[in-house]
Amino acid sequence: MNNFIYENKTKVFFGKGCAKEFLTCLIKDYDNIMLAYGQGSVKKNGIYDEILSILMKEEKNVVEFSGIMPNPTYRKVLEGVQLVKEHQVEMILGVGGGSVMDCCKAVSLAGRYEGDAWKNFWDRRGIIDFEPIPLGVIVTAAGTGSECNGAAVITNEKEKRKTGYDYPACNPKFALMDPTYTYTVPRIQVASGAFDSLSHMMETYFSQPDATNVSDEIAEALMRSVIKNLRQVMKEPENYTARSNLLWDASMSENRLIKMGKRCDFTCHLMEHQIGAYTDCNHGQGVAVLQPVYYRHIYRDGLSKFARFAENVWEIPWEGKTEQEMTAAGVDALAEFIREMELPTTLRELGVTDQKQLETIAASCHFSMGAYRRISSEEILEIFQECY
Ligand code: NZQ
Ligand code: ZN
Repeated sequence: MNNFIYENKTKVFFGKGCAKEFLTCLIKDYDNIMLAYGQGSVKKNGIYDEILSILMKEEKNVVEFSGIMPNPTYRKVLEGVQLVKEHQVEMILGVGGGSVMDCCKAVSLAGRYEGDAWKNFWDRRGIIDFEPIPLGVIVTAAGTGSECNGAAVITNEKEKRKTGYDYPACNPKFALMDPTYTYTVPRIQVASGAFDSLSHMMETYFSQPDATNVSDEIAEALMRSVIKNLRQVMKEPENYTARSNLLWDASMSENRLIKMGKRCDFTCHLMEHQIGAYTDCNHGQGVAVLQPVYYRHIYRDGLSKFARFAENVWEIPWEGKTEQEMTAAGVDALAEFIREMELPTTLRELGVTDQKQLETIAASCHFSMGAYRRISSEEILEIFQECY
């Protein structure tokens, strides 16, 4: 294992009814609260009414910050910052999926900073020597694990760049996670979110060191759990146990735990973020398109780990297979699962309409220092062309 420091300040309240039970006590020290949410799902499914009634009962001054879009933009962050300053917001309460949570983290950071926040915290990794505005999140969609980390993935539309660093100081103070809140997530988003979690696990697992370590063992258990519980939720959307597992799997994929002692790859994420910056595509669907193709490019650089993935995650028997055959069977099983979950398999399905644009996107991608092999811009373009 490599050396590491582990820190996670988010306090998690998990289970049916947790918002009703705990929110009052968690907001007791704040009067001016910003209630932030997305593009309307919380109003349709009743979560907004449930949360607002708690805030009203406690006689809080509520400032609403609505309309946070999937793939939140830096412009939207600045809109939130302005509201925070105008209304002396003391706490931000974000109710939604990864996009709402990320936008709220960004507002909590930029809202207490006088300089150029994009330049100093997104364009490059910065140092946070002040307390961001306290943030609490109420999770409505499983997937990103944003509730338990300090990353705010934001798109700068002008610069055509989607990026974010994990700053421990930006972890939410608390996360309320009620699996029943995820029952109304559209089917395709359930699959996208779960695949995003699986992708976080794979991007961590397929990196050095590979010598037996507990992080990889946990990652294998989590990957099996996502696969099993996503299948179950697809059959039975209101299966509480399966929803609970998917929701907690997602947090575990990004609460830093399985990354300890690992270099971490995240090449697929870096590629997907740039496709997103240019096309606004759905994040989980983007990594689903890229991952099998990327792995067919690099598996020879990590053969024994890919064979272990086939055996321990997809439960494929060796039965006389060579390591190479075993590896290929594991990546095939992953690709088949993506089809089974009706996730897209081409960039065109994601809305990439201009094949020529792929050159520009490939040239804008950043590289991962943690990958088994560092791929070039030319190879990224090859991968994009194969995915097209
Ligand atoms: O906007 P609303 O109306 O709320 O609708 C959302 C949105 O349309 C809907 N939704 C969420 N909860 C719902 C619901 N619909 C019905 N019922 C509910 N209970 O789902 C749609 C997608 O929501 P979004 O938050 O965009 O999805 P997700 O959770 O996948 O977040 C994606 C964003 O997170 C970033 C992605 O890049 C992307 O911008 N990521 C953040 C990470 C992090 N902070 O650690 C890591 C990830 O790798 C990822 O990059
Ligand atoms: Zn992701």
